[in-house]
Amino acid sequence: MVQIEIINGPNLNLLGTREPAVYGDQTFEDFLVGLRARYTGVEIGYNQSNVEGEIVNMIQAAGQSESCTGIVLNAAAYSHTSIAIADAIKSISKPVVLVHISNIYSREVERHTDLLAGSAKGMISGLGLGGYELALRALLM
Ligand code: DQA
Repeated sequence: MVQIEIINGPNLNLLGTREPAVYGDQTFEDFLVGLRARYTGVEIGYNQSNVEGEIVNMIQAAGQSESCTGIVLNAAAYSHTSIAIADAIKSISKPVVLVHISNIYSREVERHTDLLAGSAKGMISGLGLGGYELALRALLM
């Protein structure tokens, strides 16, 4: 079975209550129930961490896993700061599709640079939680 790992970074555990005008009012767990129901032929793993090094570990583990096909990654604020996570993406051969729930280019200037984008297969920004589904579909193509 195709296996996709979703990795979420800091503060995304608070989706549903965190700045709903920006990120919506659905929890990620609720969204995941629907996503898994729509893609029964795909094993969708999910992990979240607020800690940069743990995200590096998750990317390495998915990269080394024989069964993992690809990674959907929303590194949240670390997208704008983390050379370590960019290096982790470059260190593995599995495709990584980045997601931002909000449109980072229509927000504060410090969010306009995504240090991970050059190392990833592609990036989806501004399409809400639906961006995770589009990223998944990109990995299945
Ligand atoms: C985010 C955008 C980031 O700038 C922010 O720090 C986040 C979430 C998004 O999904 O829109 O935490 O990655």
